[in-house]
Amino acid sequence: MEITVHEFPDMKSLSVQSARHIAGLIKESIESKGRCIISLSGGSSPRLVYEKLSNPEIYAGIDWSRVFIFWGDERYTGHTSEESNYYMAYRALLSKVSIPQENIFRVPVEVEPAKYAAVLYERIMEKFFMSMGAVDAKKRMPVFDIVLLGIGADGHTASLFPGHEVVNEKKRWVVSLEAPEGNRERITMTIPVLNSACSVIFIVSGSGKGKIIRSVLEERGADKKDYPASKIIPETGTVWFVDKRAVK
Ligand code: 6PG
Repeated sequence: MEITVHEFPDMKSLSVQSARHIAGLIKESIESKGRCIISLSGGSSPRLVYEKLSNPEIYAGIDWSRVFIFWGDERYTGHTSEESNYYMAYRALLSKVSIPQENIFRVPVEVEPAKYAAVLYERIMEKFFMSMGAVDAKKRMPVFDIVLLGIGADGHTASLFPGHEVVNEKKRWVVSLEAPEGNRERITMTIPVLNSACSVIFIVSGSGKGKIIRSVLEERGADKKDYPASKIIPETGTVWFVDKRAVK
């Protein structure tokens, strides 16, 4: 599996170039398949990328009515909470482009308890991906055109935390879990879903992540297997956008 790494001096240059890259992939997908299905990530690293992507100069040529948005993970909190990954993406990007409301598939955090919200999101995805003819029949997994991911300072990616049992999930598309710290409930797509995507892009900035990134990228860290990102090995490879602070 090929890994391509683009390193930038700072978050600003990283966000401009990754936004251009993502815009290019969206256009390619629309040209070849008539649509682009994206899974977004949360956290602070992608926010600036989404803001750049909302700039008409960068998204020029994208027909947003052909773009469909999902979330790779979500915190189990209200849609207008500061913690909500949906709300971050809404403010930074979705509220600024002419994407139809029905193309936005947020995690149904209003459903209780969290495990039912996860089951419902899986059902919503099944229906959508079947209708789009975007299910890999052999793997029985949805095929996203683009998956965006990050890595937290504790080594989590999406809401897959090192050592957590959901990292080994093979069949389910979406599960709920408690984050190891803070007892915070979350909902996440599983590794087989992320591995079935056409393009997987990691966006990583911020300090304290160097050891994790090196371990995942160089494939020789003794604790490599402990990081869920090491298990994200789609056939199409992964592309990484990192800034200097992250790889230090
Ligand atoms: C989340 C995210 C998560 C994110 C990392 C990185 O909800 O926690 O989706 O997987 O990618 O936490 O976040 P930072 O860029 O803020 O470090």
